[in-house]
Amino acid sequence: MKHVISPLDLSINELAEVLDLANEIYENPQKYSECCHGKKLATLFYEPSTRTRLSFEAAMLNLGGNVLGFSSADSSSAAKGESVADTIRVVSSYADICAMRHPKEGAPYVASTYSSIPVINAGDGGHNHPTQTLTDLFTIKKLKGRLDNLTIGFCGDLKFGRTVHSLINAMVRYPNVKFVLISPEELQIPNYLRTEVLDAKNIEYKEVKNLDAVMPELDLLYMTRVQRERFFNEEDYIRLKDSFILDLQKLENAKPDMLILHPLPRVNEIATEVDDDPRAVYFEQAKFGVYVRMALIMKLLNITV
Ligand code: NCD
Repeated sequence: MKHVISPLDLSINELAEVLDLANEIYENPQKYSECCHGKKLATLFYEPSTRTRLSFEAAMLNLGGNVLGFSSADSSSAAKGESVADTIRVVSSYADICAMRHPKEGAPYVASTYSSIPVINAGDGGHNHPTQTLTDLFTIKKLKGRLDNLTIGFCGDLKFGRTVHSLINAMVRYPNVKFVLISPEELQIPNYLRTEVLDAKNIEYKEVKNLDAVMPELDLLYMTRVQRERFFNEEDYIRLKDSFILDLQKLENAKPDMLILHPLPRVNEIATEVDDDPRAVYFEQAKFGVYVRMALIMKLLNITV
């Protein structure tokens, strides 16, 4: 049995298998509609979520399985002081697989060490979000045709944005991928990513404060919201929240085939006028999330069709 806590828990080959299977399911969903009959997915969400929890649930339902779970810490025994370790021991006897989101970095990992069912990290604090990364990789592969030879701009809250951290970790494994990291100084990527990942692997990257100047270089622009819930004080959030707002005027300098991704939810960082631009693919990206989660559930439960 295997858990998925970090995007690196899947080898490049396993990742390619999940993406291929997701594409097969996307092309022919009917073929997979009963393959998890009798199986149960538990969604243990200690932090708010719309897409991740509902797409996990939709994924299991689309496979003919069932779902159970809770959507906030308040409505679970965490409110009474139960540890994640005790919760997962019990849930292991109610379900076949579980997806866990938690505000504390490392909580899904701790759960996995006590679990007798596969645990999927559905986001742990500012750390990792591997199924969003699978969604992002699927979107890039499907709409760009490749995962290598790309210049990727990450813009917004690169300090607390776990989707950014996970996607950088995953993308450095493909040849000739360059990063342009666009953020205010206070919201730059954590130092461990710079030293242990980018510098250690000799990846080409630059850190800039201005989006306009670098726009023409980008093949992909990954926008993120400023992560209000991870700030220590509200004044800093208010000062930084509107650092970058992507609008049609800013896009005038972008490549005609640049893709705009966003894990969503969007707050102010992309003007709604951008939604109709053919380069804006964030709603499609959210839709793809269901197929990659279907594929991942099947792989972890060893189900073949
Ligand atoms: C992201 C998350 O939870 O990290 N949302 C998501 O899962 N699609 C991004 C965010 O909350 O900003």
